[in-house]
Amino acid sequence: MKINILKTADEIGEAIGKIFCDYVNEKPNAVLGLATGASPVPTYNYIAKQCKEGKVSFKDVTTFNLDEYCDLPKKHANSFYSFMVDNLFSKVDINFDNINFLDGNTDSVDESARYAKAIKDANGIDVQLLGIGRNGHIGFNEPADEFTDEAFKVKLTDSTIEANSIYFTDIAMPHYAITMGIGSIMRAKSIILVATGESKAEAVKAMIEGEVTPKCPASILQQHEDATIFLDEAAASLLKK
Ligand code: PGA
Repeated sequence: MKINILKTADEIGEAIGKIFCDYVNEKPNAVLGLATGASPVPTYNYIAKQCKEGKVSFKDVTTFNLDEYCDLPKKHANSFYSFMVDNLFSKVDINFDNINFLDGNTDSVDESARYAKAIKDANGIDVQLLGIGRNGHIGFNEPADEFTDEAFKVKLTDSTIEANSIYFTDIAMPHYAITMGIGSIMRAKSIILVATGESKAEAVKAMIEGEVTPKCPASILQQHEDATIFLDEAAASLLKK
């Protein structure tokens, strides 16, 4: 694991955004794994700005998002699909046919097989962006007894519901989601994880310095050969060195 500690969330967004833009300039038909939540927003802002200035084009890029809520219409304001349209897809020149999402409103077993095949047909994910939950989750892989492989339907934990329900004002937050599994995340050729703020410090410590255990799903990244972690000082504050 490579660890980078920077001062602000915007600096981190710029650093990660640059990695993505350089990658796409090198490989215009790159396959990117994308994440939702507050953590990746500065990265998406940087990419959108570069695209607007003509410094990168997403026209041939393919994307796979990590997860989606169950029992929420795809275009509901709180869906992760809408989040991605608002924060990135509407601001870059991506072809909407190349955007892939898990469907939380269909049979999850069939959906998992469909997504696995779509990722395989695209020759795998080149660069996967991740956030981390306060409980160490990546995607919606909550702490569990075993590491998962392909996408699956998950019951969200109280910690995740508490963290994400701030976004739901009109309706109750769904308690189930469908998420790429740990195996599908780990098969990405390169992984970049971003964590900012004190609320992530314990999860970050467990991910980097703890044992590899499904109780802290992000700890599996210790075994990935190309994983880079971007932290601000608050998120890094409990690390030994
Ligand atoms: P956040 O979520 O970026 O909104 O903190 C990250 C996550 O739960 O994976």
